[in-house]
Amino acid sequence: MKKTNELFGKFDDVLKSACRVPLLPPIGDFWGQKKKLTFVDMFCGIGGFHTAAKSLGMECVFACDIDADCRKVYEHNYHIKPESDICRINPENVPDHDVLFAGFPCQPFSIIGNRGGFADARGTLFFELAKVIEAKQPRALVLENVRMLASHNEGKTLQRIKEVLTELGYQVDHMILNALNFGLPQKRERILIVGFKGGASGFNWPDRALPMIPLKELLESEPDKRFFVSERIRRKRQAHHKATVTPSIWHENKAGHISSYPFSCALRAGASYNYLLVDGKRRLTPRELLRLQGFPDSFEIVGNDSQIRKQAGNSVPVPMVKAVIERVIHARQSKPSTQTQGRVNAA
Ligand SMILES: C[S@@+](CC[C@H](N)C(=O)[O-])C[C@H]1O[C@@H](n2cnc3c(N)ncnc32)[C@H](O)[C@@H]1O
Repeated sequence: MKKTNELFGKFDDVLKSACRVPLLPPIGDFWGQKKKLTFVDMFCGIGGFHTAAKSLGMECVFACDIDADCRKVYEHNYHIKPESDICRINPENVPDHDVLFAGFPCQPFSIIGNRGGFADARGTLFFELAKVIEAKQPRALVLENVRMLASHNEGKTLQRIKEVLTELGYQVDHMILNALNFGLPQKRERILIVGFKGGASGFNWPDRALPMIPLKELLESEPDKRFFVSERIRRKRQAHHKATVTPSIWHENKAGHISSYPFSCALRAGASYNYLLVDGKRRLTPRELLRLQGFPDSFEIVGNDSQIRKQAGNSVPVPMVKAVIERVIHARQSKPSTQTQGRVNAA
């Protein structure tokens, strides 16, 4: 795949400015700890959290994902072999770590908020995560999910998740963030949940919007012809829509309505093939999809186009979670309690 040096340099410069070095104490001072901060990457996918945390000097000690293709990409890029299904992992065997990251799958949360107590989370992947948190008591957590989690089941699902974490001894907060405010030309709103064992002060959510990387600087100049749609599809699109800016990403919603913007709508793992088209003519290339999530060009592509489309659609926007992690690891944590305050009812 063609990659111009000029674009490579420009793109990585924008990423660097999105992930600017903070005027905060060095990480070695964090919680009075001199060694490298460690993390685990649960439901790791292709490692959006990993890329962000590594760039802040943190070290991964464990990862897991049930998807074999993701594990292959992960191992290739980070030299860590993720474990598979979280349900088959003994939480006690997860290595000790400072911070736990998890972009837990949204599909099973429909049943979380319905009843009281920990029992309501049983059988969900969130409950499996809670078991690891209970066993290992990391000093901090950063969880990510779709925006809809905030309003799901009239807010009861999120409330239940926060209660579970609180009962495990964490001070918890959440915020909806948009990748568009972190330098990326992708409208992707996600809920971020942070938790501090025993509480913390001085934690603030990132609030300053960074300039968006212009789409033209992210798009490849000579994409392979396999990414272009047929003349018939192109004509059909153009008969129904006129873009006001170029380049733009044409977005087809579920009702078949076309709109276009100088940024991409949220990448989606299970979207139809032509859900997003550059100028109504071609699909995004694997490199462009990864750039839209803020992966640097040093991230190596492993797998075919459709695998990467799914993986990029599932990933977290790297600069967005980096900004959150940066603030988490510079917050002043209250003396961490060694006692778990809550118990997960596994009965
Ligand atoms: C929203 S994605 C997380 C993506 C990741 N944060 C990233 O940056 O690429 C959720 C991931 O959970 C994985 N998953 C689903 N069920 C799982 C299970 N039972 N055990 C481990 N991983 C699972 C999926 O394969 C998927 O990669």
